Amino acid sequence: MRNTFLPKILLPLILLIQVAQSDPDPLQDFCVTDVATTQPFFFNGAPCLDPALAIPSHFTTSILSKAGDTGANPFGFNVTLTNAKNLPGSNTQGLTMARIDIAPNGLVPPHSHPRASEVTLLLSGNLLVGFVDTSNRLFTQQLRAGDSFVFPRGMLHYLYNLNSLAPALAVSGLSSQNPGAQLSPLANFMTKPMIIYDVLKKSFQISAKDVERIRKNLGG
Ligand SMILES: *[C@@H]1O[C@H](CO)[C@@H](O)[C@H](O)[C@H]1NC(C)=O
Repeated sequence: MRNTFLPKILLPLILLIQVAQSDPDPLQDFCVTDVATTQPFFFNGAPCLDPALAIPSHFTTSILSKAGDTGANPFGFNVTLTNAKNLPGSNTQGLTMARIDIAPNGLVPPHSHPRASEVTLLLSGNLLVGFVDTSNRLFTQQLRAGDSFVFPRGMLHYLYNLNSLAPALAVSGLSSQNPGAQLSPLANFMTKPMIIYDVLKKSFQISAKDVERIRKNLGG
């Protein structure tokens, strides 16, 4: 029993825990992004600045203090994100902050973050939020200012501003320094190169004309 414990039980357990983790844990107190680096190779996170050169301002940013332009896309939303460049102290810490501005009746269309769970705090306005699990069950809630909602990792979710007069402002914390985002309308209809008509026609049970119209409406 003793001899088989490690390979038979402990190893699979360790592997499982490794797979279930989000970003790898930092090996040092911090790893302030060396924004000036010209290292010609990629690795998991950005290269670290010499810790002795780190200063308090590396750990602060005003990037979320300004509203994004909600008129730059047909949906009426804008997301501003912290990242390892604009908030160098966040490098390797496994987190991202997002500022979400949504115009009156604007929508953050169904999308997913392949590498992060998300918790959203509504600061002002009214939002209808929802996510869909892998059995197509919808979990939806109406949020008022001060309410929070969790979007589990990888699940398709949306945020809709129910108010036709006032904008909505929310902030999110995401559990990865590179959450990634796939917006369902764009990932289907606005790819480069384009997904062939037959695939979209069959997938959505629509005509070639419908495909064309959707692409045009999305700005294609
Ligand atoms: C968000 O707003 C910025 C300007 O504030 C703009 O450059 C950018 O294109 C907008 N993003 C989207 C997805 O509309």
